[in-house]
Amino acid sequence: MNFLGLLSLVLVVYCTSATVPSIKLNTGYQMPQLGLGTWQAKGDPVKQAVKDALEIGYRHIDTAFIYGNEKEVGDGIWEQINKGLLKREDLFITTKVWPEGSNREKALASVKNSLKLLNVTYLDLVLIHWPVGDINSIYQGLEDAFNQKLVRSIGISNFNQTNIDNLLKTAKVVPANNQINIHPTLNQDETVAYCNKLGIAVTGYSPLGTGSMIKNPILTSIGAKHNKTASQVAIRWQIDRNLITIPKSVNKKYIKEDFEVFDFKLTADEIKTIHNMKA
Ligand SMILES: NC(=O)c1ccc[n+]([C@@H]2O[C@H](COP(=O)([O-])OP(=O)(O)OC[C@H]3O[C@@H](n4cnc5c(N)ncnc54)[C@H](OP(=O)(O)O)[C@@H]3O)[C@@H](O)[C@H]2O)c1
Ligand SMILES: *[C@@H]1O[C@H](CO)[C@@H](O)[C@H](O)[C@H]1NC(C)=O
Ligand SMILES: *[C@@H]1O[C@H](CO)[C@@H](O)[C@H](O)[C@H]1NC(C)=O
Ligand SMILES: *[C@@H]1O[C@H](CO)[C@@H](O)[C@H](O)[C@H]1NC(C)=O
Repeated sequence: MNFLGLLSLVLVVYCTSATVPSIKLNTGYQMPQLGLGTWQAKGDPVKQAVKDALEIGYRHIDTAFIYGNEKEVGDGIWEQINKGLLKREDLFITTKVWPEGSNREKALASVKNSLKLLNVTYLDLVLIHWPVGDINSIYQGLEDAFNQKLVRSIGISNFNQTNIDNLLKTAKVVPANNQINIHPTLNQDETVAYCNKLGIAVTGYSPLGTGSMIKNPILTSIGAKHNKTASQVAIRWQIDRNLITIPKSVNKKYIKEDFEVFDFKLTADEIKTIHNMKA
């Protein structure tokens, strides 16, 4: 192989392996900053979306028991693993336990059910989906799953400071992650700062405001300066804040677009403008 051939091979390997930065969780595991969301995606479309995302380079998938799609998400993952595209260990899988009517035993059973549906021997992250019901007892179920090595990291979702304080009264394992709603008109500064202080990494969900941000004029005009779309700007803003984020799409074109956010950076002024956007 000549020099240019070798150089381009090295560049391809470098670019495909180093595109997505990750955040080190308090368990020591790395969580890719960008993942595919799957809420409101079911059946064949979500299976196809997962396959497309893995092909594009995503190595982090977000699902939940309540989404009713863990089986299809698993099917998409395993088709790509069985094709040799990636190994299970290359992938970060998050799921969530539904808290209503749950408790320690039921939460552990829910984790085992998710393992079965996704056809995996461990999950990377399991969260309590909402701060409702007996969260202290439910979290003990997640700690059981953690101690049994069924889950590498455990955490919470939609928890505010009060909810976190209540949980920490009984928790033996500090949550590794809090997944909360973050988008340009909802910066969640206070909860993010509180989590950071406690060593809890934050994931911003609905980064496109469940679609409401994709034509936003402020984001569009910032994007124009970088040859990027409003969606890409909204996602990049979370990356630049050292957050993890999980945009959802079932369209390959958008899944690819949402992934192309690592070849530009927002300026400090642009980040500030986005931060101060009002609903
Ligand atoms: N923990 C929680 O309580 C919680 C709550 C909400 C969400 N989440 C997680 O966060 C994920 C993302 O949030 P979300 O689903 O609310 O919405 P989102 O990611 O903010 O936006 C998704 C919407 O935007 C569209 N879209 C995506 N990329 C686009 C692009 N580049 N251009 C134009 N349109 C685009 C999608 O359309 P198509 O799919 O039709 O392409 C979909 O309608 C969820 O899927 C879920 O995994 C968690
Ligand atoms: C389930 O996982 C095993 C590896 O543990 C794999 O060989 C098999 O193909 C998977 N099954 C499905 C239906 O994807
Ligand atoms: C946190 O959420 C609970 C409901 O789960 C609510 O009662 C409380 O007022 C909220 N606290 C803060 C600081 O937002
Ligand atoms: C702008 O972005 C599009 C889509 O990613 C790309 O095809 C095009 O080459 C870019 N143009 C410039 C001038 O970089």
